[in-house]
Amino acid sequence: MHFSIKTSAIDTLRSACVLVPVGSGNNLTAGGKALDESLGGALAAALSRGDLQPKAGSTLLVYGEARKVARVVLVATGEDAEASERSFGESVRAGLRQAGATSCEEVVSILHEAGVKGRDLAWKLRQQVTVGRDLAYRFERMKSRKDPQPVRPGRVALLVARAAAAGAQTAIDRAMALANGTDLARDLGNLPGNVCTPTYLAEAARKLAAEHKLRVQVLDRKQMEALRMGSLLSVARGSDEPPKFIVLQYRGGPARQAPVALIGKGITFDTGGISLKPAAEMDEMKFDMCGAASVLGTLRAVAEMRLPINVVGIVAATENMPGGKATKPGDIVTSMSGQTIEILNTDAEGRLVLADALTYVERFKPQAVIDIATLTGACVIALGNHRSGLFSADDGLADALLAAGRESSDPCWRMPIDEEYAEALKSNFADVANVGGRAGGSITAACFLARFARNLTWAHLDIAGTAWKSGPQKGSTGRPVPMLTQFLIDRADGKASA
Ligand code: BES
Ligand code: MN
Ligand code: ZN
Repeated sequence: MHFSIKTSAIDTLRSACVLVPVGSGNNLTAGGKALDESLGGALAAALSRGDLQPKAGSTLLVYGEARKVARVVLVATGEDAEASERSFGESVRAGLRQAGATSCEEVVSILHEAGVKGRDLAWKLRQQVTVGRDLAYRFERMKSRKDPQPVRPGRVALLVARAAAAGAQTAIDRAMALANGTDLARDLGNLPGNVCTPTYLAEAARKLAAEHKLRVQVLDRKQMEALRMGSLLSVARGSDEPPKFIVLQYRGGPARQAPVALIGKGITFDTGGISLKPAAEMDEMKFDMCGAASVLGTLRAVAEMRLPINVVGIVAATENMPGGKATKPGDIVTSMSGQTIEILNTDAEGRLVLADALTYVERFKPQAVIDIATLTGACVIALGNHRSGLFSADDGLADALLAAGRESSDPCWRMPIDEEYAEALKSNFADVANVGGRAGGSITAACFLARFARNLTWAHLDIAGTAWKSGPQKGSTGRPVPMLTQFLIDRADGKASA
């Protein structure tokens, strides 16, 4: 679905289909009224029949005049004076769907004339791009028969006043770059574990680097051994797939500016290892690299936006498999930081690969480090599937991420990481154990990571509940690419630099 900005006057518009918002009491916006007038009152007449339900997302298709505007999709935005973000999203989705059910290849939208609580024109334009691109997203790479239907509408023109055109263009350019990054994350997440291996992720990173002039480095097992990444390598031991440690660098900011570092958990399949997972839904553990996918997706978005900021992206990629050489419960390994770890449960592997990545990232002297991981089932129990878990001892960084989540409709929720929780990780045999008890499982996981982030300004995002959907809609969401990208936009703008 392609988006553009259009500035023609609505009463002289020629279009096969126009999306028009309708507020409470069948109220038309200024543009809606002007269009209605040019169609001889056809819209008001249709509305007066009472067939448009007031609920946000209800639609009514009205035929206009073939030589002016052939069709109008009236879209209810709800009964409140100003729509909520959610109602607006539903209206956009429904309007595009209804337009897509016609034969129209191109539609014009003035849905952004609707009022949305606390949101400006740029947000409403971006939201239309985001919703449209989400509707258009298909993952058919592994199907031999692809859906023959073209995605409709193929083109959407957003009609704005001439004075607003430049700002509107910037808004949709950014939204399209973000959608491209989100789609990349979704594709990587949706690919099965036998295709999307650590080697595949490394190739995807190389491809991204070639397209956007990023620096890329891929460390293999030998190089990781030389760095003494004993924690990460303990996870890779049971697998025949070689692990990869991927380092990407985007340099859009001043050469001497410290970078923001993003670290993604890249377990391309998590069987649990010797602490084997039960069979039910184990297929979903192909999504255990969604943190890694979000790092690559965010770098794509940032590079396409040419943001004036420096970003380091790190992906710690391996499978977690059982096997004759696999790590066993009770094994003790030495991490790159020098701390020894008693691995009491081989299924708590994400923290093990992230530990060494956190130590490695110190060499970039980053201004902030964010790790992104499908880390714990406990986080899903705590927060469900709407908000990602946010853990940080740094209030400035935490607030910036919370704000970015709010702004991008990709929200997170701050969880505690008080030192008291870390006591659960005491080991009789090593410096630390890799699991605590069942209580506060996502918090003790964060406490484990904190031990390896002592020299960093650091935040941890647990995306176990938000990175993918289960059930009939099973698939990767691309989250939290919107939040991370917004965070970097804010940083580049000089907002909230801690
Ligand atoms: N990748 C899983 C976390 C996960 C499980 C995410 C289910 C989403 C759905 C992670 O590696 C894991 O297995 N964590 C364990 C930790 C436990 C052994 C302390 C968990 O959550 O059960
Ligand atoms: Mn696991
Ligand atoms: Zn895992």
